[in-house]
Amino acid sequence: MIHKSTLENIRRAAQILVKGGVVAFPTETVYGLGANALDAGAVKKIFEAKGRPSDNPLIVHIADMKELKMVAYDIPEVAFKLMKKFWPGPLTFVLKKTRAVPEIVTAGGQTVAVRMPKHPVALALLKAAKCPVAAPSANLAGKPSPTTAAHVSEDFGDTIEMILDGGKTKHGLESTVIDFSGMNDGNHQRVEILRSGAITGDMLSEILGYKPKTATHRAGGKVRSPGLKYKHYAPSVPMILIGATDKKKMVELIQKKLNGFDKKLRIRQKSGEAPERVGILCVKEHAALYSALKYPAVKKIVVCGSLKKPQTFGRELYASLRKFNKKNVDFILAENVGNQGIGQAIWDRLSRAATEII
Ligand code: TXA
Ligand code: MG
Repeated sequence: MIHKSTLENIRRAAQILVKGGVVAFPTETVYGLGANALDAGAVKKIFEAKGRPSDNPLIVHIADMKELKMVAYDIPEVAFKLMKKFWPGPLTFVLKKTRAVPEIVTAGGQTVAVRMPKHPVALALLKAAKCPVAAPSANLAGKPSPTTAAHVSEDFGDTIEMILDGGKTKHGLESTVIDFSGMNDGNHQRVEILRSGAITGDMLSEILGYKPKTATHRAGGKVRSPGLKYKHYAPSVPMILIGATDKKKMVELIQKKLNGFDKKLRIRQKSGEAPERVGILCVKEHAALYSALKYPAVKKIVVCGSLKKPQTFGRELYASLRKFNKKNVDFILAENVGNQGIGQAIWDRLSRAATEII
């Protein structure tokens, strides 16, 4: 059930957490599905509700630095510097876990991911519950993350006791995840980004003095961020992602694909087969062009942000992907906004949502 984020409702949600229940709440990135991070039984309910594989650890959300010490230890100095600059905010630190954190949260590992969210409702909820809260994105495993309360309810119906409504989320993409866990042991001198997000490598470099690399899928044969190996953010129909970033090439590639679909359409019509319906996910600047092309196969055009302001594409991406479904299209052709700055996080999500990149 969706509830307004009144003080009274936030207090009720906190009570549910304290009693070992699960609530969905807004953060500045995406909505989270939270449970008391120190209560293994409560955390288990999150995995069950989401259908999340048990080897994919959760992020622990905290409201103050005292809670940080409850869940993590041996934290490098440079991590504190970054926390000072970016917390509360969309930056998650992978640190050594204390014994207080149940293994189910960390998927049996010795590290824990921690972040202090910026959304006032998230902070108020954490403060009222007086416990660290483990929360993955509040979507069914594999689906696009929720950026509104309605998305959460779309995925879970009434199975979650309470969904706190905090409107549309600001960033629309999950937090940046960085790994500090082996630093004090001399395992590495430089941090790596395990998942890109609104806090970009360039922003981190102001404190670090170098631009951190983004970890590849597997480093040394070991999965660094287990979440990366799973299919993610997928719309309910196959999505073909256009790899070109040049505006002209992007439009050309989409036209080429559409020509192909058009030919197939005629063949299918002759043989009495149902035609394939195509959806286009594109930036504001190209929408008029695609509708002017009048391809009969194109059944839906969803405008997602602007090429000039890539952060708007990031903000709207998941909601846009949710607009396509088996009822309206068979395929999606998706544009991109490049790979620079926030574009890196957007490309990461798009490419993992896609079934094919051309
Ligand atoms: O913005 C966000 O981070 C949102 C909001 C709700 O805070 N949460 C979120 O959680 O995106 P989730 O569970 O959807 O993604 C957590 C990511 C996964 O890729 C997971 O593998 C990684 O963080 N992660 C969690 N604990 C980790 C650990 N100890 N070591 C490495 N990666 C970890
Ligand atoms: Mg997620």
